[in-house]
Amino acid sequence: MDGERLETETGAVDLSGGDNWVLYADNADALPRLGDGTFRLIYIDPPFNSGKVQRRKELATVRCNDGDRVGFGGRRYRTVTLGATSYSDVFDDYLAFIASRLEHAHRLLTADGTLYFHIDHREAHYCKVLLDQIFGRDCFINEIIWAYDYGGRSRRRWPAKHDTILVYAKDADGYFFDQEAIERIPYMAPGLVSKEKAARGKLPTDVWWHTIVATNGKEKTGYATQKPEGVVRRILSASSQENDWVLDFFAGSGTTGAVAQQMNRRFVMIDNNDEAIDVMTRRLGTVGVRYVDGALNPLPVNQSRSGQLGLFA
Ligand SMILES: C[S@@+](CC[C@H](N)C(=O)[O-])C[C@H]1O[C@@H](n2cnc3c(N)ncnc32)[C@H](O)[C@@H]1O
Repeated sequence: MDGERLETETGAVDLSGGDNWVLYADNADALPRLGDGTFRLIYIDPPFNSGKVQRRKELATVRCNDGDRVGFGGRRYRTVTLGATSYSDVFDDYLAFIASRLEHAHRLLTADGTLYFHIDHREAHYCKVLLDQIFGRDCFINEIIWAYDYGGRSRRRWPAKHDTILVYAKDADGYFFDQEAIERIPYMAPGLVSKEKAARGKLPTDVWWHTIVATNGKEKTGYATQKPEGVVRRILSASSQENDWVLDFFAGSGTTGAVAQQMNRRFVMIDNNDEAIDVMTRRLGTVGVRYVDGALNPLPVNQSRSGQLGLFA
């Protein structure tokens, strides 16, 4: 890649080469380097300002004679930590943090593009007002509720088991939305509709029941707050087409990039956490994907001696 020009005359990242991109940078620095009107779809799942450090430990159980856990047939096992990922989710002024980034999101969308902004109940209402200011209230398209059913339950209030995805179009009269491409789901009461309708299934509404990433599922990366591919796939199906550019500038484990790869979309992923970049190298591979830092210098993505991809200098 040495000597290769990765930026246009204006200093924007040159996306004309046919590759996808993973940028290891603060998005406040990276976003100004992306060209106006590039992305048909932007999905972001920023830190929710939970006031915590988000951590996830990846554990495995291995058989061993002096293990502290006894399983089937009296066999002994020990739990080992494979790795841990974490990032801080504490902001003094969350709206100030997110506002300038959302202004870039608006600038970066194509004229018919759509933003999906994933947030939870703590900040959703403040962010809605902010997005109304940036996009215009008439450009608010949907409030999607992603409902799941997992984890502990409060005894003091209704257990909070949903996230909110706010959907905004750049142009309320001319945004891309392909209803035909959305995968249909089973009717809740198939006996109440004709056999043909039941067999065809129904279109999802703005309430999406979907499991979280299964702890033993094959898409699990071990990255804290990883979102399910099924949720992101539905978004990409409706609001982008093959070869469109898709952007996620709080990329984490790269769920958006993984789904974009599966669906033949092109992508730019941005994250400022080295653990996120490390996970993405394994998830997205190196074929047709450029890994660069904020100055567009290639990152040292290599294989370890065990053959695992990662950021190894
Ligand atoms: C909720 S996680 C995203 C999870 C992702 N949707 C997934 O499925 O894995 C938020 C991500 O934003 C990243 N982040 C936070 N502040 C950032 C910043 N200023 N620039 C770039 N990335 C940032 C964190 O490192 C974290 O990976």
